[in-house]
Amino acid sequence: MPSKKHSFLNFQLDHMTMHVDPKMYNVCYVIFRVLFGVEKDDVIYEKRKEWVKGTGEKSMTFAVRVGQGAIGDAKFQNTIFAIVQPSEPESVPSHSRELLKKHSSTVHWQHVALRTNDLLAFHKYALERGVNFITPIMQDEDEDVIQVFSGEWYLPGTLPSGVFFEFVQRNPTPELLKKLEEHNRQSWFKDKTFLGLYQEKEMENQSGNVRSFLDQELFKQIQSRLASKNLWEITEDDVVNVEKMMVEFAKRKNLVGT
Ligand SMILES: [Fe+2]
Repeated sequence: MPSKKHSFLNFQLDHMTMHVDPKMYNVCYVIFRVLFGVEKDDVIYEKRKEWVKGTGEKSMTFAVRVGQGAIGDAKFQNTIFAIVQPSEPESVPSHSRELLKKHSSTVHWQHVALRTNDLLAFHKYALERGVNFITPIMQDEDEDVIQVFSGEWYLPGTLPSGVFFEFVQRNPTPELLKKLEEHNRQSWFKDKTFLGLYQEKEMENQSGNVRSFLDQELFKQIQSRLASKNLWEITEDDVVNVEKMMVEFAKRKNLVGT
C-alpha cells in the first residue's frame, strides 16, 4: 500500500464511464465483446427507457467487466467500463447529447469511479475539505454498491467540463447500510443509481447551475497561493497550507449553513 494517511484513501480503479454518439453505441459494445474478451456474463447491466410512449425502448447505458481481481474477494474487484449514449429522441432534452455537442466530439470520458474500503469515512473527509457532491450517498441495490458523485472539475469562469469523480464501496454490510440510513436520514435514498445520476445531471444542465468540485472561491484561493510557482517548487508546506485553507473554507461554509 502506498503511504497514505488513512486506509480509506487507498483507492482502486472501479470503473470508467464514457458517453458516445448513438451511431457508435452498438459498435462500442461489439468491440468490447470481441477485443476485450467480454462474455455475455461480463455484461453487468444494460438499462433501457421508453422516452416517448409507443416509440419503443432505447438502450441508455451498458456496463462491461473487462477484468477481475486475482486476490481476496475477487467478486468485488472488477474493472468495468460503462458506456452511455444519448438515447432520448430529438424532442426530449439530453445533457448527454449536449455534452458531446459542446465538446465537438463523438466520445467523452465523463467520470472515473474509485473504490474505497470506507466510503462514509472518505465522504466525511472530503466534505471537511470543501468538496462538493451532487448527490447524497446512494445505494444501488442491483449492484450491491454504495456510491457518491462529486461536482465537476473545471476552471472557474469557464464552461463546466462534464468531468467528475464517483466514489464507491462494494459489498456494503447490512450494519453499514443501517448506519448510513441513520447517519443521513433525510438524504439517504435507494435508487437505480444510474437513473438517479442521469436525472441529476440533466437537471443541472437544464438549470445551467453545474456544481463544481470545489467552490470557485476556494479554487481561486488555492490557485493564487500557487500562482508564482513551477510545479517542482510546490513545497510540503504549501500542501499542508492548502489543506488548512480547504478545511477552514469548509468550516466557514458550514457555519453559513449552506
Ligand atoms: Fe459510475
